[in-house]
Order: sequence, then structure tokens, then C-alpha cells
Amino acid sequence: MITLGCDYNPEQWPAEVWAEDVALMRSAGIGLVAINVFGWSEIEPRPGEYDFKNLDAIVELLHENGIRVNLGTATASPPPWLAARHPELLPMAADGTRRYPGGRQAWCPSSPVFRAYAGKLVEQVAERYGNHPAVALWHVSNELGCHNALCYCDESAAAFRRWLQARYHTIENLNTSWGTSFWSQRYGDWAEILPPRAALSLRNPAQLLDFRRFSSDELLGWYHAEAAILRQHSTLPITTNFMVTAHIRDLDYWRWAPAMDVIANDHYLDHRLGDPAAELSFAADLTRGLAAGRPWILMEQSTGAVSWQPHNLAKRPGEMLRNTLTHVARGADTICFFQWRASAQGSEKFHSALLPHAGTGTEQWTEVLDLSRALDRLAEVAGSAVEADAAVLFSWESWWAAEQEGRPSTAVDYLGQVHAAYGGLRDLGVTADVVSPDGDLDRYRFVVVPCLYLVSDEQAARIGTFVERGGTVLVTFFSGIADQDDRVRLGGYPGAFRELLGVNAEEFFPLLPETTVTLDDGGTGTLWTERLRATTAEVRASYRDGPLPGVPAITVNRHGRGSAWYIATNLDKTALQRVMSEAAGVAPGHPRDLETVRRYKSGKSYLFLLNHGGTEIEYPATGTDLISGERADGRVRVRPGGVRVLEEERGKRP
Ligand code: GLA
Ligand code: GLA
Repeated sequence: MITLGCDYNPEQWPAEVWAEDVALMRSAGIGLVAINVFGWSEIEPRPGEYDFKNLDAIVELLHENGIRVNLGTATASPPPWLAARHPELLPMAADGTRRYPGGRQAWCPSSPVFRAYAGKLVEQVAERYGNHPAVALWHVSNELGCHNALCYCDESAAAFRRWLQARYHTIENLNTSWGTSFWSQRYGDWAEILPPRAALSLRNPAQLLDFRRFSSDELLGWYHAEAAILRQHSTLPITTNFMVTAHIRDLDYWRWAPAMDVIANDHYLDHRLGDPAAELSFAADLTRGLAAGRPWILMEQSTGAVSWQPHNLAKRPGEMLRNTLTHVARGADTICFFQWRASAQGSEKFHSALLPHAGTGTEQWTEVLDLSRALDRLAEVAGSAVEADAAVLFSWESWWAAEQEGRPSTAVDYLGQVHAAYGGLRDLGVTADVVSPDGDLDRYRFVVVPCLYLVSDEQAARIGTFVERGGTVLVTFFSGIADQDDRVRLGGYPGAFRELLGVNAEEFFPLLPETTVTLDDGGTGTLWTERLRATTAEVRASYRDGPLPGVPAITVNRHGRGSAWYIATNLDKTALQRVMSEAAGVAPGHPRDLETVRRYKSGKSYLFLLNHGGTEIEYPATGTDLISGERADGRVRVRPGGVRVLEEERGKRP
């Protein structure tokens, strides 16, 4: 079964509405409802005074109607009385100014005061509902670190020092790792160390990097603290909703994932990006990577517009179904929406919901019912797994380090480079896993390493071994430059991969934005070039013009039993596609706009075909469309904007 669910905020509505809500939830086939996510000021209206009357009623109502509860611990947003009593728990920005209540998440992740009050609340909630038969899942806090990930207050400074002491043991080790001989930054005592508060000049990059590591760990520590309380009262699975999305980068979810009983993600289309649907696919594959291939929960998405982008685009007919099936195709077995009923008040009143302001007599509601029916028909897909033989390496640490102050070009953005590489594979019809550089590469044939600026010795060695054993790797520029302390690897770039790639670059030659160089194979490059020499590699293309005419831009090196490609510039889409197709050994010609993914289960395969374009597409396939019931014999047609999920008759991987 694919479960359909949503966030529900009944505290925003009079009690008369609740019964109608739950009746409508039933007609829409809602099976899982997240409540009490922002409930703190309702259930603890005054310090230590708890009032569970309404929450009890909601839990009972859902239970009577056979709807399972995804129960929030309510700690995401403290009530006004807490900050009024304890202003010291308000988070501090890098410039030393406080952030005030009035929005949400106004708490310092290291604040012992916050942790004490929130811990007591979790205790209350866990004790009261830990054994309630309606509760299926614990929802810790909400999007931890969405707004308050980086706090620079004195309490955070103290916690940062403790974290550093555990990491470095001696102040000398810290001085070495941080390179504090530069600009007279040598520390004599732990007490001298501060969070990287706003400074007059560029700040110490190793300090900035460690502060990010610390900040991610600090919130993870708080997750562990909440989970420990829940475990004393309940054996139910515990999770929190990740934000694997384009504009949040503060949490290193590779470190978080093992702490979750089940992986859950929130995803919203981001119309500030060139190709929001491709980013959705990437985020879903990365979420599957975090889930180590097991089914995961889409904890939030929207039926239409959000209310926090500059231009909040609604979804066109069919788009919500396509988005949803992208998540399902890439491993989600539970699909939830934010939120059930569109708010009439508050800063998200223009955010779409399952039940819109205009009510049930709407196209939107009809599409929700259609979606629910479609998911019903996909019941047997649940529990199946995606099997990929290609992978894209992704690292939050490397993201942080690659985008530090004082880098060669601010026009190079890590995620943009990852998306380009991932998009190249997706356009070829190749399904890739997104894996950590610490992950296991043995099961793959082809691995892409985009812009992996920071890489440890072990990670570099693992990539090398993968190639030696016969794998193919494709590395793109600004990879392998620094070690885990953000210390440059000397002797020529890319230090960690020189041998593997059979190249040596002595100098970066980034390009001004809007500048293009041409390559002698007809391709073009932007953003980046480098004075590169092939040592053992074969040169596949060189620059024809720009600052480095005649210098190699694309190379391939035999290494052990495998091969290692290098792309030293930001290739245009067609050129990238060409290299990718040759390197991956996949013929070009996958239909444009057609997203294809397979999930496999006990000798069966389910082929997802999603047409993102405006014209009908024909694709070779045989099987039965689980949604429409139609049979396809050899060829299947996918209408513009349409979807197909074929249960294929061939019971094995094609
Ligand atoms: C996040 C939050 C929700 C809500 C939505 C709006 O995912 O968890 O509370 O704010 O965004 O898009
Ligand atoms: C961030 C999150 C979204 C949503 C908005 C609301 O951008 O990624 O999910 O919560 O904040 O402010």
C-alpha cells in the first residue's frame, strides 16, 4: 500500500470544523496525519501547565475514523512566554544581533534552557500518547535547522569549544588544522575561540567549516535527546522531516540518516531553479541514498503554490500527480502533503493545501481525489526497490567547503554542478543512486564525482580502488582540491585525483560570467578553465580560444582495469551529454522530457514513465498500466504531461 497523508493543524480552526475535516480525509483516502507539530503554545499555555483536552479529542477523532497519527513532539516553535522569561535562548546571527519570536524556530540549538523546557514537554507528550493505538510514528520537532541552524551566541560559543576539544584534544592540533599561523590567528587557550562571527575581512575557512560541522551535529544531538525521551515511553518508529532541497544546506544528513528509524523528507518545487522537476528527481534519489535504498516517506510536498518563494507558481493540471509519482518512482512509499486545510490566517495563508480555501467544489479537490485513486492502484509497488548501476557522489561537507569565502570564483556553485552532472544522466534515461563519498561504490559500474572539492584520503582511495577494479569514473572540475581541514593538496591540481585522472593543473583560470570558450570538438565551456597538462591521460578535447588555447579540457585515463574521465570546464548541456553518454556507455536518444525509472520486487518490475513535455511520447515497453488498466504490447504512448506505471511482464531486469 502507498499511504497518503498530510499535516493537520486543527488548532487553527474551531472545533466544529474538525468532524468535517476528518470525514473529508476519509473520502480522500488519507491514512496518516501529522498533528501537534506546532502545538506547544496550545498544550502548555503557561509554564508547566499542560492542557491536552483538544489534542486528546483530535487523536480520538482520528482514531475512530481509522486514521493513523504521526505525532509531533511540538518543540519546533516555543510559545511567547518562553522567550519572555528567557530571552537568552533567542538565536544570535553572525553580526551579534538576536532573532526574535514572532515567526518560528526562535531558539538557540545549544541553549540548556530551551532543552530543559522542550525536554519536559516531550516527556509529557510521550507519556500521554506513547501507547495510544492511533499513534504510528513520532515526528520530532520540525525541519530541524530550517531557520536556526547557525547560532553565534555565547552559549553556542561554549558548545562549539566543547565540540572542538572533543575533535582536536589539544589546542596545538586545532592550530595546525585551522592553519592559524595565517594572519596571526594562533590560539593559546580554548577560551579564546569564538564562533565565526562577522569580521572585517575574510574569515578563517577551517573555522567556518568546523562551525558548520558543529552546528549540524548540535541539532542532531538535540534530535537524539528528544528520541531518547520518546524511547522511554514508546517502541514506535521515530523520525524527523529532512529538507533535502535546493536552498537548505546546513545539515549534513549523511551523519543524521543512521539516527532515523525511517527516513522522511520534505520537498517543494523551487521555481528559482532552471529545471525544478529535475531537482525534484535529484532530491528524491538523494533521499533514497539517505534511506540506504529502503522505502522512505515524503513527509511534505504541496498540491500547488508555496508562499515563501518570490513567485509562487501553482501547479498545472497533472503536475501534482507527476511530482508525486516521481517521488514514488524513486522510492517513496508514503506520500504526505503540507497541509490538510489551507490556513485562513498566518504567514502561510496563501500556501496551497489538499483542501483549498475554495472548498471541495474545485478542480484542486478533484485532482486530490484522482491522486488518491491512482496511489490506491499502485499498492503493489510498495516495498519494491530501485536498482541503479550508476551513482553520483554528493557531500554536504564538500558543499560547505567549496563555497567558502575566498574561493577562486563565486560563480561556481556546488549544487549547480551536481545538478548538471545528475541532469546529464537523467536525460540519458539513466537512473543513478546519490551516495556519500564514504559510501560503498562496489555495486556500481559508473560513478560521477561532480565538484567534490573537499575529499579525505580514504574517500580518494576508495574512488581510486573502484576504478582499479574496472569501474568508470567521471570527475568534474574543482574536485579533489583540499583535505578534510580545507588544506590545499599540493603538487598540482586536482591533488587527490592527479594520478587517477592522469592530469596535472598548475593554475585555475576561472572565466567571467557571460564568457564562453569553445572546444575543438564543437562543445563550449563557461565559468572555469585551468592550465592543465595530461600526464598519462588521453586528451579528448582542448580549448580553441579563451585564456588557454590548445590546453586540454576533457581527458580520459586508463587506471587499473577501469577508466577515469575528467572535465575541466562547465560544459554546455549537449557537450556534457555527449561525454556522459560515451563515459557511461549508454547510447544517446532517450526521448526528451520523458522521465523513466524502474522499481523491482520479487521477480517483477514497475516501469514509471513521466512525460514532462507538451507532446505525446512513444516508448518501447510491454506490460499493464496499473493506473489506467491499459495493456501495452511492445510500445506504450504517454500523453503530454501524462504518466504511466507499467507492471512489466518480463520478470527481470531488461
Ligand atoms: C515546511 C514546514 C511546514 C510549512 C511548509 C511550507 O516544510 O515544515 O511547516 O512551513 O514548509 O512550505
Ligand atoms: C524553508 C523550507 C520550506 C519552508 C519555508 C517556509 O524555505 O525549506 O520547506 O519551510 O522555509 O519558510
